[in-house]
Amino acid sequence: MKILVVGSGGREHALCWAIRRSSACSALFCAPGNAGIAAVAACVPVDSLDVPGILAFCREEGIDFVVVGPEAPLVAGLVDRLEEAGIPAMGPSAAAARLEGSKGFMKDFCARHGIPTARYARFTDAAAAKAYVEEAGAPIVVKADGLAAGKGVVLCANVADAIAAIDMIMTDRAFGAAGGEVVIEEFLTGEEASFFALIDGITAVPLGAAQDHKAVGEGDTGPNTGGMGAYSPAPVVTPEIAETVMKTIVRPTVEGMAAEGHPFKGVLFAGLMIGPEGAKLLEFNVRFGDPECQVLMARLKSDIVPLLRAVPAGELDKVAVEWFDAAALVVVMAARGYPGTVVKDTEIRNLAAADAVPEAVVFHAGTRAEGGRVLAVGGRVLGVTARGRDVGEAQTRAYQAVDLIDWPEGFCRRDIGWRAVKA
Ligand code: AMP
Ligand code: GLY
Repeated sequence: MKILVVGSGGREHALCWAIRRSSACSALFCAPGNAGIAAVAACVPVDSLDVPGILAFCREEGIDFVVVGPEAPLVAGLVDRLEEAGIPAMGPSAAAARLEGSKGFMKDFCARHGIPTARYARFTDAAAAKAYVEEAGAPIVVKADGLAAGKGVVLCANVADAIAAIDMIMTDRAFGAAGGEVVIEEFLTGEEASFFALIDGITAVPLGAAQDHKAVGEGDTGPNTGGMGAYSPAPVVTPEIAETVMKTIVRPTVEGMAAEGHPFKGVLFAGLMIGPEGAKLLEFNVRFGDPECQVLMARLKSDIVPLLRAVPAGELDKVAVEWFDAAALVVVMAARGYPGTVVKDTEIRNLAAADAVPEAVVFHAGTRAEGGRVLAVGGRVLGVTARGRDVGEAQTRAYQAVDLIDWPEGFCRRDIGWRAVKA
């Protein structure tokens, strides 16, 4: 089978790394890929949002199966266009991707189907939104409705912050069209976890849980990022909680989407807040998490290709998922300045030594190759991943690999996994 992975981040490197091991894969391509992905797949210079370009490449190359990594092409309808062209693809239709693409849609969907989530209200008018927060009080959460690269959520400790957030999103349009509407939510407390399931429209197969560290600073302080590191399994997601999440969140979503005429096919990523009242849904994503995918792929023992292929085929009832008896942890190395403005094109050295640490693998996110050198070109640049008997051993190995990387312009958090290691 000739397979194309769409995307260029650490998640896509991990997917390519797992797919490459499959005997079902005869050739692997990635559009557009990065310097690390180039070692396991042929990189194609087509942007992940260039739908006609991707279709043309699939036809020219005779691609049999497409795996879409990021949310933006899913929300833009890439999978619909591929299916119309007769090319099976892993990921939801645009209609089903609204679970991530519109927070208002997702909240109304949860309300219709009794899925536990924070209380909320939707507004297209800034003055009405402000009046609501004056009335509701703080702490309170203000969210841009549409996709905002993980930055459209503002946790507000007081009413003045909430009013400023409404202005930033709706009046100043800091996230463009994504801020045409806001969702204002009750502030939930507890411990967060990321829960994954593969869904073929009817059957949902749990894919495990991970915990990521969203804040840029040690001790989970400072501004939120796309994720500075993750580990799996997540001790907070006990077998009982996993069963409850499948029963109260995942299955009602599968049934509700099918009943509403938009069956969900793809990876459903439930962002959970596990608090005194059990697990509540913070958000849905319609794809693997980044960097959660890196640790899931490190732990996955099953051949990934039949699993992913069963999604568009509607055959998930026939698959079983096997895991290595190991934990995995990823430390993200980012360019200095991240999540703000970063310096680009700095050189990263000694990556081979880091890759040679037992049970470690360095996934690339924002890198490009130039004349045999690897240059950093993004905010999050590397995902240094390792397996171990437990999270503590995986953590030790991951930092051993991090310490071998020679990149003065990069930084990482030194405390990834602290909750699980302390426990
Ligand atoms: P989201 O993109 O919706 O997952 O939000 C990003 C982050 O904001 C989450 O990972 C949480 O840390 C936080 N967050 C989102 N919604 C809430 C909420 N209702 N209460 C507390 N924290 C939240
Ligand atoms: N790591 C969180 C996300 O992928 O959205």
